[in-house]
Amino acid sequence: MNFKSVNPTTTEAWKKLTTHFSEIKDVHMMDIFDQEPDRNQQYKIKCNEIQFDYSKNRINRKTLVLLNELANEVGLKQAIQLQFEGFNINQTEDRAVLHSALRDFNHMKPEVKKALQKMKAFSNSVIKGKWKGYTNKTITDVVNIGIGGSDLGPKMVVNALQYYNNHLNVHYVSNVDGDHVAETLKGLDRETTLFIIVSKTFTTQETLANATTIKNWFLKDASQLDIEKHFVAVSSNIEKAVNYGITEENIFPMWDWVGGRFSLWSSVGLSICCAVGYSNFEDLLKGAHEMDLHFKNEEFTNNIPVLMGLISIWYNNFYHCETEAIIPYNQYLDKFVPYLQQAVMESNGKEIDRNGTPVNYQTGAIIWGNVGTNSQHAFFQLLHQGTKMIPIDFIGFKESLHGNEYQHKLLMANFYGQSESLLEGTYKQNINNIYKTFKGNKPSNALLINQLTPKNLGSLIALYEHKLFVQGIIWNIFSYDQWGVELGKKNANKILNS
Ligand code: F6P
Repeated sequence: MNFKSVNPTTTEAWKKLTTHFSEIKDVHMMDIFDQEPDRNQQYKIKCNEIQFDYSKNRINRKTLVLLNELANEVGLKQAIQLQFEGFNINQTEDRAVLHSALRDFNHMKPEVKKALQKMKAFSNSVIKGKWKGYTNKTITDVVNIGIGGSDLGPKMVVNALQYYNNHLNVHYVSNVDGDHVAETLKGLDRETTLFIIVSKTFTTQETLANATTIKNWFLKDASQLDIEKHFVAVSSNIEKAVNYGITEENIFPMWDWVGGRFSLWSSVGLSICCAVGYSNFEDLLKGAHEMDLHFKNEEFTNNIPVLMGLISIWYNNFYHCETEAIIPYNQYLDKFVPYLQQAVMESNGKEIDRNGTPVNYQTGAIIWGNVGTNSQHAFFQLLHQGTKMIPIDFIGFKESLHGNEYQHKLLMANFYGQSESLLEGTYKQNINNIYKTFKGNKPSNALLINQLTPKNLGSLIALYEHKLFVQGIIWNIFSYDQWGVELGKKNANKILNS
């Protein structure tokens, strides 16, 4: 099958979208709602327990038809198939992109199954207190040492699933700033702490520096022989991890067909298993797989990641919006945006297309945001009355976890109230005070999810993974390398050695 490489601006659909844009760009969404009275029902899609409402966007039926044509012209369907079939779509590194294979229990590669069994056995033994430290005490704290994808994904998930946490305290050390590791170690006991060194390459400067500081701290009281009771590693570079002093049996595998920023589903998720137990981790994988099936099988017109990707292209390339805000109305998701920043911006911040030509259009939306309602009291003023157009994703849950119904009602009233105010503003209202007028017409999506369960979280993360893939395909860029970051790493080493 052919992995197409098409400059999107040369397609027929792009030309039609350009004409269509000049017709619709100044139309108020309130008028589109009047013209499409069934819009509230029609612009809604469900995937299991996730409902996507895209009615509050500056689009109409025609926009959707043309965006769909664009997706077809650039070969999105084939690209999706090629990704799931393990074709080397990461051409600049000559690798397949198969994080979806880590969560497909019906067609699991034997090595993935084996790794999951190892994670299950290990995390069970730590949680149940069977794994003992060097003075025969049980483990109370687990520290994940890693950066980028070896930190952000597991840290976000463990934070999001706090409600399901067991007695273990899980910590994350990432920054090469020595104060980060020092602060983390301050409250820890060598005898009851387990360290997971997570590095796909096992060459990352920050991770090795932090691991060495921690190893030296540990050896102040313990001996070399005790290391295997307190240090395990996750890596695809077994040789380097062994040379570093990790017992081979304590190494959990990684594969080159899993990118760092998509690796929380692999052994990189070991700290997640420790924090919430293996069966919750498995539910997370199953939820992601449900979204994979939706993405792979649904028609584009009924496909949440495809529509999210296309609508985002519409704003980025026609309205020239540079940023997108993501606002989860859920305190547990306060690390969701930093996680997505790596996933989205490391993937789609590219200026050379898949033909090796500089692009002549904008790629890579800037992702930012924070939890509601806190962000309403921080930056929402700019969203409502600023001069920039910033499309927003609102993420909300029907039910809270602790069951404080009154406060959940307050939270969700804000979730709905904000998107409505952004849509309506004070349009066609007679307000005498110019400072109190709001133009409205500010676009947003709403993702409404039943409850924050491991399964739903898995689906939500996979949804954004697929959205960014859709955008990379339309923009005709390679979403799965990160040469820009590599150059920075090399230069830091050069400076260090000069
Ligand atoms: O930030 C660049 C990067 O290569 C990420 O893609 C990756 O997640 C991170 O560094 C850490 O790499 P490693 O797991 O090899 O230490």
